Amino acid sequence: MTRRPVIIDCDPGVDDAIALILALRSPELDIQAIVTVAGNVPLALTQRNARQICELMDRWDVPVYGGCPRPLVRSLVTAEAVHGTTGLNGITLPEPTLPLQERHGVSYLIEALQNASAPITLATLGPLTNIAAAIIQCPQILDSVAEIVMMGGAVTRGNITPVAEFNLYVDPHAGRVVFETGVPITMLSLDVTHQVLTTPERLAQLRAVGTDLSQVAVDLLTPYGVSDRETLGLADAPLHDPCVIAYLLQPDLFTTYGAEVTVETDSPLTLGQTVVNPRRAKALTHPVQVADTVDAAGIYQLLQDRLAMRL
Ligand code: RIB
Ligand code: CA
Repeated sequence: MTRRPVIIDCDPGVDDAIALILALRSPELDIQAIVTVAGNVPLALTQRNARQICELMDRWDVPVYGGCPRPLVRSLVTAEAVHGTTGLNGITLPEPTLPLQERHGVSYLIEALQNASAPITLATLGPLTNIAAAIIQCPQILDSVAEIVMMGGAVTRGNITPVAEFNLYVDPHAGRVVFETGVPITMLSLDVTHQVLTTPERLAQLRAVGTDLSQVAVDLLTPYGVSDRETLGLADAPLHDPCVIAYLLQPDLFTTYGAEVTVETDSPLTLGQTVVNPRRAKALTHPVQVADTVDAAGIYQLLQDRLAMRL
């Protein structure tokens, strides 16, 4: 099996945690490191949560870095109402002993990409602050980026505002830097992740796996998404970030279309909005691949299979 080198940049966060569990249970992915960023909760918690998940998964081999504690320009906006005060609402894990790497996450990203023997995929699950900071500091690293697969953006409807998705709202300037690079990007926006809902039947499917790990996933997902359901009128909680890992593992679970994507960075009314223009696709070398449809049942089957898999 050729293993795909991946760096995961994330802001755990309940759905980030499920995505990390899925990724850490997938031998197809050669996870080089986890880099954390401020987002759902402050950096001190996102880095702690990532270390706790790695320990839970017995993945002491995966280094965890702390990246940027705030967006490039804006003040930090967090989402404790969605993820709880710790960021991992629903579970209590031991204080992590897996060390936080001393090097800053942005320095790690630059060095890892500069020294890469093969192109690396960046899987981004949070605000794009670290990625943008690395690109600004050392644009040459883009030559070693295979592609960026991101959870972020909204084509038709936002979540934190009527038009903006949380990750791009928190750091729209970072989003603009990343989309302007022209590297291959696959954007899993709310338009697909809002199709991947944690129904009671799917939760029961995960519970039926019957392992400690599957129970952790169920304990995370049970309280998750109440606020999304109330504020967005969704029937059940959307499973955002695991869609990124599912795309890496089984891209055929999705369909995509090419488009130019630009991020609103000025208007207070539409800050963080991703403007998706398919008509510009043919003018671009690497149009952004915007996910259009998703096999939601297939996503949960994949998650269930990986939770049940004997490693
Ligand atoms: O808008 C949903 C995204 O914002 C997810 O990545 C969630 O974890 C938060 O970071
Ligand atoms: Ca996230």
